[in-house]
Amino acid sequence: MSRIRTAVFPVAGRGTRFLPATKALPKEMLPIVDKPLIQYAVEEALAAGAEKLIFVTGASKRAIEDHFDVDAELERVLEQSGKMDLLKMIRSIVPRNVRCLHVRQGGPLGLGHAVLCTREAVGDEAFFVHLADDLIHSDVPCLKQMMDHYAEHGHSVLGVETVPMDQTGNYGVVAVEPEPSGAQRVTRIVEKPKPQDAPSNLAVVGRYILTPAIYDHLARTGRGAGGEIQLTDGIAGLLADEPVHVLPFSGRRYDCGSKIGYLRATVEYALRHPELGENFRAYLQGVWER
Ligand code: G1P
Repeated sequence: MSRIRTAVFPVAGRGTRFLPATKALPKEMLPIVDKPLIQYAVEEALAAGAEKLIFVTGASKRAIEDHFDVDAELERVLEQSGKMDLLKMIRSIVPRNVRCLHVRQGGPLGLGHAVLCTREAVGDEAFFVHLADDLIHSDVPCLKQMMDHYAEHGHSVLGVETVPMDQTGNYGVVAVEPEPSGAQRVTRIVEKPKPQDAPSNLAVVGRYILTPAIYDHLARTGRGAGGEIQLTDGIAGLLADEPVHVLPFSGRRYDCGSKIGYLRATVEYALRHPELGENFRAYLQGVWER
């Protein structure tokens, strides 16, 4: 089974939940401690073997292009002031063998439409889709866990976790059945069902490996939940043609699309941070005892 070389990052959403912070700043550029969310996303994809990064962008997302481009002026300043560690860090954001492409979505038509916009840039191979809002901390990066599953089975894979039943309306939700191989195969997928209509409480989080067959389905998918072209509906079409698996990955997910999830991630990443962790823990204890 060939490896996956391409990762798609849909980043065109306006991030209205974080206004006014996101009026001029893409929500994917919000930092968790000292790194923007989109950089965690890219690092996870690189760790899973991606060499081509496709960002699906929209209006006011230039900061993302700049972040992953060479900044010769900044490099010159760092070099002249002898800040070689910072220079090295800036230069290593994107390794030399990795290509970044930016595709414009052109309108808020949904996640399925964002993925459809990458058809030509991806070509005829399987690819990752990574939603930067869903930050996942794990020993083995989540996309790498999914890549290992794909290498064994060769089918599309959705990253899933169980959520409280009253939260099904925030997610794509699947019904699954076991295959003889032990893998879990999707039998149904529904976008944002009410709890009483949900096929289970197994929710798709923002990690996908998709075969290129998804594009024909997305091209045929009309507007679904919320009036948008849903990736979930494209995947529902794919189920009729080929197996789609789920992977209940190991790791802790932070929903950084919500303020509380973002704060949890900030606190926990700060506690784990090699330079700040100890200090920050002492500080938090002090706050607690106040
Ligand atoms: C999107 C998808 C949904 C998925 C979720 C994961 O929804 O449409 O199927 O479960 O991401 O975070 P959004 O959060 O963009 O509304």
